[in-house]
Amino acid sequence: MATNIGILISGRGSNMVSLIENSISGNLGGGRVVVVLSDVENAPGLEKATDYGIKAKYIPTRSGGPKLTERDEMDFIDALNESNVDVVCLAGFMRILSNILINKFKERLLNIHPSLLPSFKGLDVHKRVIEYGVRYTGCTVHFVTEEVDGGQIILQKCVPVLQNDTPDTLAIRVLKEEHKIYPQAVKLLCENRLRIENRKVIID
Ligand code: GRF
Repeated sequence: MATNIGILISGRGSNMVSLIENSISGNLGGGRVVVVLSDVENAPGLEKATDYGIKAKYIPTRSGGPKLTERDEMDFIDALNESNVDVVCLAGFMRILSNILINKFKERLLNIHPSLLPSFKGLDVHKRVIEYGVRYTGCTVHFVTEEVDGGQIILQKCVPVLQNDTPDTLAIRVLKEEHKIYPQAVKLLCENRLRIENRKVIID
């Protein structure tokens, strides 16, 4: 049976597009993207999803702060249930989730972060990476737990930081790798090949 995937976005949705394209070409191991939800009304990703024939919906939220309220989360859950979603992928979703959504989709909720976690959690990652002077950065696909950017790591890809990199040039190279590892991680999940053992993810 197919695994129905829902994607949550707040912006341009390039990772979303990568997941949708892999879904359409059958590269998500039985997973297929069925719905895209955004907390931002004019998120460019919504229109892109529609162009691919995917149901895309703006979910208005009551709080403007970084954390969703419980009622906001219930609205997201209702919309996900409406499309019979099994797996949720956060792809540039800029709000912090509470344990309602996290528990509901326990071990079926993924995020992509543009650094080699646990280094450089949070925002403004590429600027902080360059300022710190690390030689390597990268991206991480991880399970979502209540600790922001702290869930178990599924896949990572390393990207060298070049001497003359700006946050923008670095972001472009990291993003290219994000677009590869996110579908790979989702495929592994949809194929039931991921097992969580405390902090670690074991890949069959
Ligand atoms: C990506 O860099 C992702 O790692 C981070 O937010 C950005 C979203 O970009 N969580 P896009 O909307 O997928 O293009």
